[in-house]
Amino acid sequence: MTVITEIEDLRRIYKRRVPKMFYDYAETGSWTQQTFRENTTDFAKIRLRQRIAKDMAGRSTRCRMLGEEWAMPVALAPVGLCGMQHADGEIKAARAAEKFGVPFTLSTMSICSIEDVAEHTEKPFWFQVYTLKDDDFMRRLIARAKDAKCSAIVITVDLQVMGQRHKDLKNGLSAPPKPTPAAILDVMTKWRWALGMAQTKRRFFGNIVGHAKGVSNAASLSSWTAEAFDQSLDWERIKELRDMWDGPVILKGILDAEDAKQALNVGADAIVVSNHGGRQLDGALSSIRALPSIMDAVGDKMEVHFDSGIRSGQDVLKARALGATGTMIGRAFVYGLGAMGEEGVTKALEVIHKELDTSMALCGKRDINDVDRDILLVPEDFEGRWA
Ligand code: GLV
Repeated sequence: MTVITEIEDLRRIYKRRVPKMFYDYAETGSWTQQTFRENTTDFAKIRLRQRIAKDMAGRSTRCRMLGEEWAMPVALAPVGLCGMQHADGEIKAARAAEKFGVPFTLSTMSICSIEDVAEHTEKPFWFQVYTLKDDDFMRRLIARAKDAKCSAIVITVDLQVMGQRHKDLKNGLSAPPKPTPAAILDVMTKWRWALGMAQTKRRFFGNIVGHAKGVSNAASLSSWTAEAFDQSLDWERIKELRDMWDGPVILKGILDAEDAKQALNVGADAIVVSNHGGRQLDGALSSIRALPSIMDAVGDKMEVHFDSGIRSGQDVLKARALGATGTMIGRAFVYGLGAMGEEGVTKALEVIHKELDTSMALCGKRDINDVDRDILLVPEDFEGRWA
């Protein structure tokens, strides 16, 4: 049995255990995957300042995000199809998050429904919505989130049209998978996954199937997005969506300082700097490169969270040191989920927490709330000079 010491260990196990179609769905970026790659390689360009003879005893990574206290500045990002990565995946991930003390965000494109996750967890979770054309469906979805006692809404603002991920088209991605000869052969080698799936009834998009009208193929992500997503979205509409929810609203998918200012204008409580894990506009800046200019624009006026590229606690520390209130992990927890269900998500959180805590200590800090830009060595040209 592999001793799991890093997120990469979980990814390797995940790859062996989950059908290729779902592994590829999570692990791919759009088109050439340049942005997907740079999300992680740009993190590595930032170095940490080692300090010594600082009191490192009694450390804490506890912090506040959206008015609540959490175990560390990390939330589970909304990720579609978690229930295809592992049977009942969203419930498993939500449970791991609540036990660890970090927020869980349920995706609209989840397999387990909002009600189902609420029924199987104790604490409120965050709920993610897309910007859809069907106003009635949006209102009902948001009302369902309210009934389920969700504590915040995350509106994804960077997916009016879907970025093309070649592998999803080649694999014929759907939930549940279609029984093509290739899919059957693949599943035969993934017996753990198949056993779990045989034992659960949760195999369809639980928030959509039976709830959204006029959706001809709810099993296929690409056809649902093409039919249902509001391509004419503007800030007016974002404000309307913002006003549908009377609690905290987070706009996720901001990569430009001008958009960050607009988000502030429409009354968002927080934004998430994100390029959707490199899954939308290939060729866009990595998220970590975009963060400093957005912090300069709105950092003192609203919570700025960070997403895309986090694979370690050191990445969390770097984003936090650049000013992010919190970070979101997507793939890092999905690897754990696919590898070993709830236990795997807990493992992913433990790995990240340990890396965060130890790195913070070696930078001479013992409280995450005292971490600032001073612990970093950032290349002078990090943000780039673009014409
Ligand atoms: C959906 O948001 C996706 O990135 O697949």
